[in-house]
Amino acid sequence: MKLTGNTILITGGTSGIGLGLALRLHEAGNKVIVAGRRKELLDEITAEHPGIDAFVLDVSDPASIARAADRVASSYPELNVLVNNAGIMLRENLLDPASLPVAEDHVTVNLLGTIRMTYAFLPLLTGKDGAAVMNVTSALAFVPLPITPTYNATKAALHSFSESLRVQLAQADAGVQVIEVAPPGVRTTMLDQEDNEDSMPLDDFLTETLDLLRERPDAKELVVERARFVRDAEANGSYDTVLAQLSGIGA
Ligand SMILES: NC(=O)c1ccc[n+]([C@@H]2O[C@H](COP(=O)([O-])OP(=O)(O)OC[C@H]3O[C@@H](n4cnc5c(N)ncnc54)[C@H](OP(=O)(O)O)[C@@H]3O)[C@@H](O)[C@H]2O)c1
Repeated sequence: MKLTGNTILITGGTSGIGLGLALRLHEAGNKVIVAGRRKELLDEITAEHPGIDAFVLDVSDPASIARAADRVASSYPELNVLVNNAGIMLRENLLDPASLPVAEDHVTVNLLGTIRMTYAFLPLLTGKDGAAVMNVTSALAFVPLPITPTYNATKAALHSFSESLRVQLAQADAGVQVIEVAPPGVRTTMLDQEDNEDSMPLDDFLTETLDLLRERPDAKELVVERARFVRDAEANGSYDTVLAQLSGIGA
């Protein structure tokens, strides 16, 4: 993916990693459109950053996704990059039935939301110069954090989905690159990590991630150094050690 001259839609662009990417990519010379549910934040972002556009989108609602696709097709026909970043991450206690709706919400937002966005937007991306889908998964796709079981499961599923998507698009000669971003813990409001010293500062994460993309524009995965011990655990034989480490967090 080139780092300038794109028209990029970012889901979950109202805060954290999505907003951070939006600001960096806007500064780098891309047309950026952010989408999320919190209208007041979208209004603030467009007021503070002229040139960034925004609209309300709830990825858990198929009708909202269909409206977004129609809107993009008519207002931004040049769209060539979709960043599937919207997500939620909440603790679950698998012995407490009250956690079931939490689990179901993760599947609806993180997994089904991304799948529905992909189906809705691929027809708009295929054939565009420099087209790309960027899926924000997590290092936890590769070794789970046991306090957030369904979250990890949705991210592992998104990793798998991204792999198949990449192959199908290549086989169809669709000209759409698939890039998976698998962040480590990053200081956002997700899971109240904003001030967590064990999580990576957001600015550092954004800089390293975009540097990786600059170095390897054809990258399949963008994994910052801090996430590598989790990403590579299974391959290098340290899976049980890393799982034991993650099992101690928040237990
Ligand atoms: N922070 C981390 O440690 C970390 C690590 C690995 C992966 N990630 C991934 O990075 C992505 C961004 O998370 P973040 O850390 O930046 O947290 P965040 O600040 O809470 O951002 C989450 C974003 O998702 C949006 N969102 C949630 N539900 C949505 C829905 N139904 N429809 C549309 N948008 C929705 C939120 O916007 P609205 O509330 O306005 O809808 C918000 O903009 C997530 O996919 C997360 O899993 C984060």
